[in-house]
Amino acid sequence: MKKMMIRGTGRYLPERVVTNDDLSQWMDTSDEWIRQRTGIEERRWIPEEGNVGAADLGLEATKIALDRAGWTPEDLDLIIFATLSPDINFPGSGCLLQSKLGLKSTPALDIRQQCTGFLYGMEIADAYIKSGYANRILFVGSEVHSTGLDISTRGRDVTVIFGDGAGAVCLEGVETDENVGILATSLHAQGDYADALMLEAPASRLSPRLTKEMFDDARIYPTMDGRNVFKLAVKRLPEVSQVVLDKAGLTIEDIDMVIPHQANLRINQFFQKSMNLPDEKIFNNIQKYGNTTAGSIPIALDEVIEQKLIPEKKATVLFAGLGAGVTWGAIIYRFG
Ligand code: COA
Repeated sequence: MKKMMIRGTGRYLPERVVTNDDLSQWMDTSDEWIRQRTGIEERRWIPEEGNVGAADLGLEATKIALDRAGWTPEDLDLIIFATLSPDINFPGSGCLLQSKLGLKSTPALDIRQQCTGFLYGMEIADAYIKSGYANRILFVGSEVHSTGLDISTRGRDVTVIFGDGAGAVCLEGVETDENVGILATSLHAQGDYADALMLEAPASRLSPRLTKEMFDDARIYPTMDGRNVFKLAVKRLPEVSQVVLDKAGLTIEDIDMVIPHQANLRINQFFQKSMNLPDEKIFNNIQKYGNTTAGSIPIALDEVIEQKLIPEKKATVLFAGLGAGVTWGAIIYRFG
């Protein structure tokens, strides 16, 4: 039976570091508040000049992932691009990346599952591989949040959390009887919570789609019911992780590393405690990058591999996340 194997990973974070102290020059916040509530120390933003988009960050991450896989762009059967901050409204960033890779007809699919983009993307890629529709797939999760944030005090609860960045993963179907690849998945969405974290305008359901009042009323910036999102995350992450463990017939002791979405260090600390995980079995890098949404899990995975934090062979990893939608889920993956 065909199993989906990770062949290469890459990440790209823009060079411009924005510290908590930098933010406090523009809004009423402080390094102490941000560290205490979120664990974030700094994040990366794209340069002020140059019109850098999600596809540009994705391209840099992709070059590294392709190189590690030993692939050229022409080897790809499909590109899956996850972002909530596409370069332009349409066409999708997947098409823009495909062009930047010099490809002329490779299919490109954009998905909009926000912080769970990697989880949905992995399951979609696995389904394509198992059905025989594609065998070599590139997944990219990439975000440019910085150009869409309210950097005044009005937007401080959201703005301090988010950062720009991209992660890329090369995925390949391999015929094997070994118990490797995706061992279990559990994905969910509950649109009842759509307004817990959303960006409302411009919107096709509004007529006109964009007005000066929308700027003045800050409806062009993301809004978040932070407490509600926090409560949902600390409940659902352990719940859905237990579901995938049960499905795979594993216990948490069988997992070499938990790689959660990086939304808030405190959320991940609650999650760690609920799962009874020692410090060395859960990975966090939100301190350096903030929340890079669809980029977060693949960036973290790339760092876990680079820092050799998991065994070289047969490492079993649990990915979990919750984000806007709300969408949430978990995946257990075993390396070959
Ligand atoms: N700096 C300083 N003060 C801030 C602030 C900031 N950046 N943002 C909000 N505050 C203020 C609030 O205005 C409020 O002031 P008040 O008490 O005078 O009204 C006070 O801090 C407490 O706000 P509250 O929203 O209750 O704080 P909190 O403890 O819930 O922390 C979050 C806020 C956003 C850090 C937290 O709710 C959170 O992380 N939630 C999850 C968000 C998330 O994960 N989002 C991404 C999902 S993928």
